This record gives sequence, structure tokens and C-alpha cells, in this order.
Amino acid sequence: MNDFIYDIPTKVYFGKDQLCHLGEELKKFGKRVLLTYGGGSIKRTGLYDAVMKELKNADLEVYELSGIEPNPRVESVRQGAKICKEKDIDVLLAVGGGSTIDATKWMAAAALVEHDAWDFFSKWAPVKDALPIVTILTLSATGSEMDTAGVISNPETQDKIGRLERPLLPRVSFLDPTNTYTVSKYQTACGSADILSHIIETYFTTEKDLYMLDTVMEGLMKTVIKYTPIALENPTDYEARANLMWASSWAINGFTYGGKKKAWSCHPMEHQLSAVYDITHGLGLAILTPRWLKYCLDETNVYKYVQFGVNVFDIDKNLPDFEIAFLAIDRLADFLFNKCALDDTFTKVGIKEEDFSAMAYKACGGKTVGGFKPLTQQDIEKIYKMCL
Ligand code: NZQ
Ligand code: ZN
Repeated sequence: MNDFIYDIPTKVYFGKDQLCHLGEELKKFGKRVLLTYGGGSIKRTGLYDAVMKELKNADLEVYELSGIEPNPRVESVRQGAKICKEKDIDVLLAVGGGSTIDATKWMAAAALVEHDAWDFFSKWAPVKDALPIVTILTLSATGSEMDTAGVISNPETQDKIGRLERPLLPRVSFLDPTNTYTVSKYQTACGSADILSHIIETYFTTEKDLYMLDTVMEGLMKTVIKYTPIALENPTDYEARANLMWASSWAINGFTYGGKKKAWSCHPMEHQLSAVYDITHGLGLAILTPRWLKYCLDETNVYKYVQFGVNVFDIDKNLPDFEIAFLAIDRLADFLFNKCALDDTFTKVGIKEEDFSAMAYKACGGKTVGGFKPLTQQDIEKIYKMCL
């Protein structure tokens, strides 16, 4: 077990009657607020009106930026940073899913520099500081509400790049499960696939694990597997939505890393898919993950698949190790493709073999993707082919 620092300072208001604290929290950072949101779901659900009421009651000066795209684009970040500079914004309030929150994080950073927002990704320009960010989450998936990451797309270069920077961590997040009642079945399923992937990418490691953290991760995975079908069947089931929401935050907020080297595999492979094809992140992960698990399985690591199969899917521990491993992968695929009804191949979602080489090259940066098993460009191309 390696040494580590635990420091997750995001203040969370969890539950259905917490929005009354929004004004008091925002006012701690100043008076001028930039409210950011996506394509309009918050207007249809009534959340926009509820938020505006709180902002008005708190006598805050509000500016708005709407239309942030799924797989958010750098152009939205530029627009937000411009408003922050022109209006001397004190705090940004992101209301939406991971895309809105991610874009807002980078607006908050870009507001404090003179260079173009894309330089953070193309030149790895330093992120020394950012304006404070408050979030109201409307979709359980990415964990952006409680982590330091933000992923931005640039359609001109067909890049989608994520970066983790401490100043991007939301100061306060409002997690009201009822705000996710209106999330479609498809986005709910994709969100759950994303949460599961964040746990699996951390759980499958060759480093010596902490039993305590492995057990927590198994509990988180069981939570997603238990409650996603309930939320799909009954979108207004509070317990199901609440369990998924809190699992989304804890899957990726850093708690489960416990000093392990954080090198993920499916995420860099997926980000190339959504960069080129603009598909939903969780869908790409769902298709990739079972194939990646199959590709990486060998004599040296089968014990981890056995632990996963026995503890998460209750597979009989007396079966031969490789049988348990394959059964566990099948059970995961059954959850993703049958229970969640997600498409199970690249072919079904229009991803073509002709792009595999370029996408694989970008996924590993011309070297290797670290993680459970180091993957070269050729390995990644083989995994992509398994997904056809
Ligand atoms: O734009 P609106 O109109 O709000 O509609 C959105 C969007 O169309 C809709 N939606 C969200 N909340 C809703 C709702 N519809 C009805 N009712 C609600 N309550 O759902 C659609 C998808 O939203 P989006 O924000 O794109 O989804 P998600 O939360 O899955 O975010 C995906 C983005 O986050 C990145 C992904 O790569 C992708 O770009 N990620 C961010 C991470 C992070 N910051 O740590 C980690 C992840 O691994 C991921 O890479
Ligand atoms: Zn993800």
C-alpha cells in the first residue's frame, strides 16, 4: 500500500430540500454570478425557475450562458471566459450534467488567463487558479460535481482531452436526486455505465490493494447494478436516484484511489470515440469495458476477476478461476446490454474500422496506455476490433 493524501473539500448539500442554501453559499464568493447550463432541459423541468428564484431572493447579479453541448466544446469555454472577464464575475454556477460542469470548470480557469482556452490542452498551459465553481447536478454519471477533472472537445482537431487540476474542484455541489427524475432511460443507462467504469478502472489494478477500499468499490458496483434497473423502470424512485447520485460522486472523487497510481485504460480509448463520432461517453465505455476485460485476462491477474465475480455478482467461488472470470464478464455484459439496453457493438452505433488506427494512436499518445495492463496502439486496435 502506498502513502496518499486524502483531501476532498467539496461541500455537498444532498437531498430534495437543500436549494434554499444556494443563495447563502454563492454570496460567500461575491455578488456577480455566471449561471451556465446546457440545451434547455433545466427550463423544461422547472429547475431554472427554482434556481432563479433563489438567486433573486439572495439579491445576486446574474448573467447566463446556455447551450453547452454534450461532449462540451472549447468554443463554449471561450464564450464563458469572455463573459467572466467582461462582467467581472465572482462565481460560476453550473446547472446540469458533466458536460455543463466540465465546461464551466474550464471557463473558471480561462477567465483568469490571457491565452486561448485550448492552450490548456494543446500546450498544457498551467492552471494556477480558477474562479470559484458551484454546481447543481442533474445527471448521475461523471462525478464532475466532486472531482478535479474536466474534459473538453475541439471539433476542429477532432480532439477530446481531459485534465485534472485542483483549482477546478467545485467548492459546493447541490445533489438533489429529484433533479434526475427527468433523465431519459438512455442517459440514465449511459450514466450508470460511466459510474461503473470509473470504479472498474480503479478496482482492476496490479498494485497491492487496500481490502477496505476494494470492499467499498464492490459495494458501489453492487449499488449501481441494483438500482439502475429500478430507476429505468420507475424514473421517480427516490431511493434508486439517490443511490445512483451518491455513487456517481464517490466513484471518482479520489477516495477509492488510496495511493494507487491512477492510470486508466477504457477512458482514453473511449474519449477518442466521442471525439470523432460525438457519441455518448457512457455508451462508448459500455461497449469497450467487457472487451477490455476479456483482452487483459491472464494467469497473473485472474485472481482479480475471481474477486470481482464472487463479490459483485455472487458467482460460486468453487468454480475454476477462468470459468468465474468469463462468467463475471458475461454478467457485466448482461447488465450493460440487456438490463440497461445499451447497444453492444461499434457497428450498431456507426463506428468504423477505418478510424481505429488514428484513434488508437491518439488514445495512447503514440506510446502506451498505463493501467491494469499496459496497452500499445496495436493492443488498442485489437480491442476496438473486438467491439465491431
Ligand atoms: O443539455 P441539456 O438540455 O441539459 O440535456 C442533457 C444532455 O442532452 C441531458 N440532461 C442532463 N440532465 C437532465 C437531462 N435531461 C433531462 N433531465 C435532466 N435532469 O442529458 C444529456 C447529456 O448530458 P451530459 O452533461 O453530456 O452528460 P454527462 O453527465 O454524462 O456528461 C458527459 C461529459 O462528461 C465527461 C464526458 O467525457 C462527457 O464529455 N466526463 C467528465 C468527467 C469528469 N469531469 O470527471 C469524467 C467522465 O469520465 C467523463 O469523461
Ligand atoms: Zn467516465
